[in-house]
Amino acid sequence: MADATELTRRTMLVVGGTGVAAGALTLAGCGPGGEADAPATTDASTPPSASEPPPSAEGGGSAAAGDEIATLSEVPVGGSVGVDIDGEPALLAQPEAGRVVAFSAICTHQGCVVAAAGDRLECPCHGSVFDAATGEVLQGPAIDPLPSIEVRVEGERVVSGA
Ligand code: FES
Repeated sequence: MADATELTRRTMLVVGGTGVAAGALTLAGCGPGGEADAPATTDASTPPSASEPPPSAEGGGSAAAGDEIATLSEVPVGGSVGVDIDGEPALLAQPEAGRVVAFSAICTHQGCVVAAAGDRLECPCHGSVFDAATGEVLQGPAIDPLPSIEVRVEGERVVSGA
């Protein structure tokens, strides 16, 4: 069940596409070259040490298969948005109207939180850039693509699972 409370629990950043959804949306990680004003749940500017697991967003609901992650209108066509899926930072993109893809936002280089940046996904730590439609590396130092997460569109809802 989606309500305003659930929406505000999600950490979202909308960039590019048809416009910027403002208001209740907060930053997921910080942008390149600056600190975010929003209360970050993770420190995206510092990679975790090798002995620590990657940072995870606190709070947020668990998204079991079939749970709503976002509405279709929250994901800009040609753009991307940061969300939490199962309490972990993730990214949704809508390369074409009605087709939504999702990726882990944990950078494959050293585990920073990658930010939505329109049709690209950008890591603030060392500058890796990923394709928002495929998760493939466009610019290193990351070598591996962002892991994909299965999502599907059900009417106006983007839900978890295949
Ligand atoms: Fe993302 Fe290094 S952790 S580029």
